[in-house]
Amino acid sequence: MINIMRNALILLVVMSLLLSCEQKNSVKHFSSNAEVERKLDSLLSLMTLEEKIGQTVLFSSHSTVTGPVMNHNYITYLKQGQVGAIFNATNADFIRKLQKIAVEETRLGIPLLFGYDVIHGYKTIFPIPLAESCSWDLKLLEKTAKVASKEASSIGLNWTFAPMIDVSRDPRWGRVAEGNGEDTYLASKITTARVKGIQGDDLADPQTLLSCAKHFAAYGAPQAGRDYHTVDMSEITLRNVYLPPFKSAVQAGAATFMTAFNELNGVPATANPFLLDQILRKEWGFDGFVVTDYTSVNEMIHHGNVNTLQEAGEEAIKSGVDMDMQGGVFRKFLAKSVKSGKVDESRITKAARSVLRMKYLLGLFDDPYRYLDAQNASDVLLHPSHLELARTSAAKSMVLLKNKQNILPLRSSQKVALIGPLADDEYHILGNWIGQGDRSGTAVSVKEGFEARGAHFSYAKGCEIEANNKEGFEKALQVAKNADVIVLVAGETERMSGEAASRTSISLPDIQKELIAALNETGKPIVLVLFNGRPLDLSWESTISDAILETWFSGTAGGHAITDVLYGDVNPSGKLTMSFPRNVGQIPVFYNEKHTGRPHDIPEANERYTSKFIDVPNSPLYPFGFGLSYTTFDYKNVTLSSDTLTTQNPITVSVEVTNSGNFDGEEIVQLYIKDKVASITRPVKELKGFEKVFLKKGEMQRVSFELTVEDLMFYNSNLEWVAEPGVFELMIAPNSDHPFTHFFKFKI
Ligand code: GLC
Repeated sequence: MINIMRNALILLVVMSLLLSCEQKNSVKHFSSNAEVERKLDSLLSLMTLEEKIGQTVLFSSHSTVTGPVMNHNYITYLKQGQVGAIFNATNADFIRKLQKIAVEETRLGIPLLFGYDVIHGYKTIFPIPLAESCSWDLKLLEKTAKVASKEASSIGLNWTFAPMIDVSRDPRWGRVAEGNGEDTYLASKITTARVKGIQGDDLADPQTLLSCAKHFAAYGAPQAGRDYHTVDMSEITLRNVYLPPFKSAVQAGAATFMTAFNELNGVPATANPFLLDQILRKEWGFDGFVVTDYTSVNEMIHHGNVNTLQEAGEEAIKSGVDMDMQGGVFRKFLAKSVKSGKVDESRITKAARSVLRMKYLLGLFDDPYRYLDAQNASDVLLHPSHLELARTSAAKSMVLLKNKQNILPLRSSQKVALIGPLADDEYHILGNWIGQGDRSGTAVSVKEGFEARGAHFSYAKGCEIEANNKEGFEKALQVAKNADVIVLVAGETERMSGEAASRTSISLPDIQKELIAALNETGKPIVLVLFNGRPLDLSWESTISDAILETWFSGTAGGHAITDVLYGDVNPSGKLTMSFPRNVGQIPVFYNEKHTGRPHDIPEANERYTSKFIDVPNSPLYPFGFGLSYTTFDYKNVTLSSDTLTTQNPITVSVEVTNSGNFDGEEIVQLYIKDKVASITRPVKELKGFEKVFLKKGEMQRVSFELTVEDLMFYNSNLEWVAEPGVFELMIAPNSDHPFTHFFKFKI
């Protein structure tokens, strides 16, 4: 018997290695274009060492500041052929001027790349990525990425530093706002959609951009949730939780990767051969190029793994970095490093080649101005169809967390007291990383949304977002007393999340809580509408509010979208992609935790000696996958095509979902499994499928999922990618907080 098991496991390992090789072969190889490779050979043969180093240099033009200001005479360097790419240039004439210098005033006339942070829109701003992830609508996410790229490319940009695909389980970390939540499977699916939306099918299409998978890797797991802080984890956790979205990026054909600021297990990600060579190139077969994050080469001095900037540059380039963002280290020191024998010129040639290859594939050598001439920016930017898409995306990204006695949707006949520091806001509503979004008033506030609808309401600000001043309370209470229902728009400023914006508290500012308490005294029902870039501690607010609508930072059309949802023109369908803790002390709290040896949730558990807190339940306030609708959906008749899954025979799992309420609506049906026994402990549940379906009231649909051996695979303690025979539990549910109802066996 033991022999059979051993052989079975050997077979499994061999099969899994074949699978992973097969995946690597499926990777899009940029270096497979023989004609481009020939052109690269001849161009590189003409280039001096300094000119090759020039292709590894990226400088900011500083029209936008996205890090510690470090001024470089980049135009002087450009004329000397020592710059390969510029970022933060956002004016077509300026881009044309820089490209003209590169093409006409340098010895070889090599065109520049132009990069920018087009994270959730360029001019038309979509909801922040964390918000859009809550739509679970992959086609929508691809579409908004495509429109953002169309707008950005219309002014001459050809590279975006997106998608940000860092899994994170810690809402103290401000950059959860830019990511896709806590789940690896969902984040991987979203990554594929984003890369396709950004790059399209042809890199030479002048309405698309190079994508950039960032931040490689595990940046979302900083100690204490403090941005840029230390990341230290087992390789098993790294491979099973944090790396898969990046592997999906490679498989989707992402053209570039960006290294993370953090160290990983003692080695800065910017000079980490394990990440950049072993994983990215050798295991995944990536052949795009790797850029550092902003001055992250220089920051190795602070990390303390090098003595000098020259050493930092040598470590980075030898580890697999191809381009130095803003640090100026490659430009200043790499020639010396080559001449001193510290770095082999072949490595410089390879880095320059990887950058030049993208310029050929973008078509920049055929026409350096193609991205400037392809579209007329004035016809593209803020196009009505883009604004309409922004409105749709915002509504689909909102999550209805509470709706006591169906107080929502509002009725037109009701008199509404629209109150709160963000009710008439057109600034914060865009969130952070807004590219060339306009904070001066073109975004639609909730108040403007109400006015456009002709809603029956009175308005009072009540208080500022943070300032401890109650002068506005009196008027707010007056407006509230004369209304049927209070809509209170509260939340964070756009600066309270995003980069360098970690918080030790994830609560609403005190002044806003005091306003909520004062309004509660009026006895009027309260609908709490939230603007925020992270999960918040809503434990107290959830006891006071009759309804809670999570709108995140909803973008240029946010006010219209929020009005659409509040008045029922759109039935909310978003579901959380990050758990909402009961308080900051619970962090990290996420759905796919481990069971432990003293679980709190089994009948025979001795309730004292179990893994729990003595002051709050273990469960989050709102779990992963949770979101309400104005209608109800019933799940029944789950069927499995077989109770045994094998490598050759996947199983199909299906369920009947019925819209049993009074509104048409969309439902995100979720499939979770649990590997009951394995060679390492496995999560209590894992998302392995989801389907967003539209059902008219009364309509039933049978929703099906296919489970394959791939869905059961994980890295074991020997770091083998395996699926192990055994029993698996399964559930199809509206969110993660449901019991398992079925099981199946996996057999070799
Ligand atoms: C920033 C961010 C990164 C961004 C880059 C360029 O510091 O970490 O996400 O793409 O610098 O702006």
